Amino acid sequence: MTSSPHTPVPTPGELTALDHVGIAVADLQAAVAWYRMVFGAEVAHRERVDSDGVEEALIRVGDSYVQLLTPTRADSPVARFLEQRGEGIHHIGYRVDDCALSLQAAKRAGAKVIDERPRPGSRGTIVAFLHPKGAFGTLIELVQQ
Ligand code: CO
Repeated sequence: MTSSPHTPVPTPGELTALDHVGIAVADLQAAVAWYRMVFGAEVAHRERVDSDGVEEALIRVGDSYVQLLTPTRADSPVARFLEQRGEGIHHIGYRVDDCALSLQAAKRAGAKVIDERPRPGSRGTIVAFLHPKGAFGTLIELVQQ
């Protein structure tokens, strides 16, 4: 790719917002009810993602979300997470303009990836995960809306 000297060079893979915090829960209904009772929060979106073996409920927080996640089958990664570590923060979703570009930039910079290429996420997003190893113990999801 060539660019003229007048074209501003975009920061490759820039994170534009905190998209969501994914929280693994054993009982999605109980978690939704708790957020409603304690914060008066309503579910903005609910989706079952069979490829990941999860059901999610999104609660809007400003321009971001809390993503309550529960496994739909015993062999899903979130089921293993709950077994090994219990309920709690599972991953952080960072919003990016171009998931493929951000993933390539992360790989070039030496980040360990889980997804070699972007794939469909919930809400019609395009996502890719980076491995927590080498990322200070944080599972990172790049989210393109
Ligand atoms: Co997520």
